[in-house]
Amino acid sequence: MKEIEAIEAIETTSSLETSPLIKKQEELATTWDYTLFMWHPISMSASVFLLTQGILYVATILGIFGLTIAVYNKSLRNKRHIQSWHAIFGLSLLLLITTQLIFGLAIATFPRLVFGSTLRAKKLYKYHRAFGYIFLVLAWVTMFTGTQVGRTKREFDHLYVWVMTLVVVLVGVVERVNRQKIGF
Ligand code: HEM
Repeated sequence: MKEIEAIEAIETTSSLETSPLIKKQEELATTWDYTLFMWHPISMSASVFLLTQGILYVATILGIFGLTIAVYNKSLRNKRHIQSWHAIFGLSLLLLITTQLIFGLAIATFPRLVFGSTLRAKKLYKYHRAFGYIFLVLAWVTMFTGTQVGRTKREFDHLYVWVMTLVVVLVGVVERVNRQKIGF
């Protein structure tokens, strides 16, 4: 019944642009979209922060949650997926980090089963460490590309803030790297 009333209200309005009903609908759609989508940058930023701190399990859970929100939000609006550099970086990062996670778990949990011996597994650990640093940089680059998507720039478009943030993080991480452990 309410639907019929709504259709009648639209039909009796001379201009669709000025229809209060349409305006209300657009307003509600935007509010819902933003309240849902905002959890993507929030949880992804928190996830990368925890990743940088080495708190891996919570970072993984937040990462899965944030990615689900981004993908679900697009499906909800029937939009095509993976249409920006940010999306390409994000998806590649997801695949690489999943591989890294499995590799790390194999070294720590099933060294003999997967690599033949604990010693052999230990020797491979340096690759896990090196890729960890590479993927961490990729995670920050992905975050950066997220700040350059049109939608984010419409809200906040100050490139220098993001560049400064990246430089500060890079200096902090490089400072903390134990160079003796990196040897190949
Ligand atoms: C490492 C952290 C992040 C990852 C792995 C990531 C990943 C992704 C992926 C895979 C999509 C595409 C979803 C789809 O096509 O269905 C996406 C969309 C999006 N993300 Fe992120 N994201 C991250 C952080 C951020 C941050 C910090 C922001 C904002 C500052 C952001 C803003 C956006 C926006 C606006 C979209 C929708 C537009 C588009 O698809 O390009 N993301 N993200």
